[in-house]
Amino acid sequence: MTLYEDWAEKYRPRTIKNVVGNASVTKAVRRMIRNKNFPNMMLIGPPGTGKSTIVKLIPKTLDVDFIEINAASQSGINVVRDDIEPYARTLDMEGSPFKVVILDQVDRFSPDAQQASLQLAEEVSVYCKFLATTNYAGKLNEAFLSRFRVFQFVSISPDDMVPALMRICKSERIKAKKKDLRYIANAARGDLRQAVKALQTACEGESKLRSDIVREFNWVPPYKSIISSVEKAMKGEFTDSVKVLKNILALTQPKWFFLGLQDKLFYKRVFTEEERVLISLALPEGNPHAFAEQDAIIFLARLAGTVYEL
Ligand SMILES: Nc1ncnc2c1ncn2[C@@H]1O[C@H](COP(=O)(O)OP(=O)(O)O)[C@@H](O)[C@H]1O
Ligand SMILES: [Mg+2]
Repeated sequence: MTLYEDWAEKYRPRTIKNVVGNASVTKAVRRMIRNKNFPNMMLIGPPGTGKSTIVKLIPKTLDVDFIEINAASQSGINVVRDDIEPYARTLDMEGSPFKVVILDQVDRFSPDAQQASLQLAEEVSVYCKFLATTNYAGKLNEAFLSRFRVFQFVSISPDDMVPALMRICKSERIKAKKKDLRYIANAARGDLRQAVKALQTACEGESKLRSDIVREFNWVPPYKSIISSVEKAMKGEFTDSVKVLKNILALTQPKWFFLGLQDKLFYKRVFTEEERVLISLALPEGNPHAFAEQDAIIFLARLAGTVYEL
């Protein structure tokens, strides 16, 4: 048996040319790469549109030194003091035009960590560039918007998604009809990560993309119901939360339930930081294809259990 490999990671574009959509942004980035001239950048936009991909590609394409901080997992002031600052202040560039600090999901930084990185970014701006991303400007220190160059991302259109999905099918030797890829692209609602994951789920155990399986992918996520089910579990109302879950699963095949669940729940911003940590811990790991209704119930039970130590 081969290990499960997430196609969304496997097919993360390795060149800017392969990043689809948001043409004005990619064009500007290509120009900056040609000129080796960068401002501090803030990429803002919905999930699965290529923001992290682009900030990772910039230092790699230019072959300059970089560090990457994901603020979702390291969010306190310490990461600025202990990791970012010593890195940003040392000049050891051996001919490189500058080095790079990637701040992914920087809105998840605590307010003092945001403040400290803003200040640092200004002080070292000549030889160290900060490339930041966020889904949402809501929790962002506003100074980022005035001191960093803002690049607004929009959802990826189905027209742009279909060729990207087609490339993956070719690589995986999966036969696929264009209209089925278009169905997935439409259902993913602008989120290409979601589309790629849906494609992988639909192809599980098949050598072609089957139209009947694609049609099961009716993933207009019933956000409100999902959030309500998770909220109930967190209040310890396990029986009620399972009732809501069963209604969701009556409309959605169980195997689609976990697809992008974390992204979707967190993008809606109804959970506190502590609640997000609990949800992440309760989510199952590994191959999402294997999940059935039972796993969704176990997820809720774990959530209720962690909160109430049942
Ligand atoms: N514009 C894009 N072009 C090609 N693939 C993309 C694009 N956006 C997202 N993807 C796919 O989704 C995955 C996640 O993209 P990422 O850049 O991390 O999204 P985000 O905007 O949430 O940071 C990528 O590894 C790739 O498979
Ligand atoms: Mg990202």
